[in-house]
Amino acid sequence: MPLVIGRREGYVLTDVDGHELIDVHLNGGTYNLGHRNPDLIAALTEALKYFDIGNHHFPSPSRTALAMKLLKLSGKPFERVAYATSGSEAIDLAIKSARYATKRRRIISIRKAYHGHTGLAVATGDERFSQLFLADRPEEFVQVPFNDLDAEISQKGCTSD
Ligand SMILES: Cc1ncc(COP(=O)(O)O)c(C=O)c1O
Repeated sequence: MPLVIGRREGYVLTDVDGHELIDVHLNGGTYNLGHRNPDLIAALTEALKYFDIGNHHFPSPSRTALAMKLLKLSGKPFERVAYATSGSEAIDLAIKSARYATKRRRIISIRKAYHGHTGLAVATGDERFSQLFLADRPEEFVQVPFNDLDAEISQKGCTSD
């Protein structure tokens, strides 16, 4: 798409030639609070007076405070929080956690769904991308149609009872 974004404010983008555009993609990525949201800019600027990027090997009061809030919002059965830098990385982490917990390898996902482009996320996504990156492994990553519980159950190797 031949768009080079210049100024950005709220839901409006201005390209480098000065055309104003309404950003109808605000739902995606990190802009669901609008571009250059003043409350966010104020909070981030204030935080930079105290924080740097931190060190993920050690606990931090601010990460812990956010984790506590997330757990309160999520309710039972959630007890732990792991942060990821992207949706793809979160999917990879979820798959790794499930495999670690169950010692089972097979992942079932919905056909044509998009889960991201990192290693496990792309492998469990649509074959358009998994095959492109030679990440398709049908014996490990199985897709079933959307809203087809029977297909899901048969892939899990159990009965509906
Ligand atoms: C449903 C879904 N899962 C995963 C992703 C991947 O997220 P990211 O682009 O942050 O890696 C996306 C991104 O569009 C998504 O829509």
